[in-house]
Amino acid sequence: MTEKKKLIAGNWKMNGSLQANAALLQGLRDGIGQPACNVAVAVPAPYLAQVQALVAGSAIALAAQDVSQHEAGAFTGESSAAMLRDFGTRYVLVGHSERRQYHGESDAVVAAKAKQALAAGITPIVCVGETLEQREAGQTEAVVKRQLAAVIQANGHCISEIVVAYEPVWAIGTGRTATPEQAQAVHAVLRAQLAAATAQAGRIALLYGGSMNAANAAQLLAQPDIDGGLVGGASLKAADFLQIIAAAQSNQA
Ligand code: PGA
Repeated sequence: MTEKKKLIAGNWKMNGSLQANAALLQGLRDGIGQPACNVAVAVPAPYLAQVQALVAGSAIALAAQDVSQHEAGAFTGESSAAMLRDFGTRYVLVGHSERRQYHGESDAVVAAKAKQALAAGITPIVCVGETLEQREAGQTEAVVKRQLAAVIQANGHCISEIVVAYEPVWAIGTGRTATPEQAQAVHAVLRAQLAAATAQAGRIALLYGGSMNAANAAQLLAQPDIDGGLVGGASLKAADFLQIIAAAQSNQA
């Protein structure tokens, strides 16, 4: 795991405006320099063009928050992977718990979205995670393995090209973070599952997400199987996001 760069990805969710985005990215550009880790921001689709221009020539990569499971056609409201690619999108979130929960995305749909992204040369950040009820019922491992298995099955040898984000649903936006030990335990399960599917499992970045912030990032990122973070709320403040990036760099071998 020593040679792999960590990845810190901000998930802006449905936040931002032309003005706020410009200010946030200016703050990030002013402070980021040439980081030793990879950095991305996942922005709302209407702002892809704006943010593509604002991150040009910087160390910040562009990410989208969702992609259609279809290639093209009569799917009103959807954005295809090729469209995201047109704006220089490097990563796309698939299967975020808010998509699974509020938009009824099944494991099969998430797997199809990952496939569309890979076909367009975009790295899917596949989100998995259990609800509080599932954790309390002792189902954490079974749930995340089921969610990841669908993506592995649909994507064959391309699976080494994905990024996985473990985001316990009970930790998202709640201020309740998984402990480094809880997160590491699940990451180890995911790593083993990937290792059974590909000889390249060691190079797949496994991110943790769920109330990661400037205060807790360093400890989480020090875990052997935590290769980065998917950061929601704390990615909306330049100073906080820069501190998380700094924590990733100091954990970089
Ligand atoms: P949070 O969100 O950092 O605000 O908990 C993380 C996410 O949903 O990706």
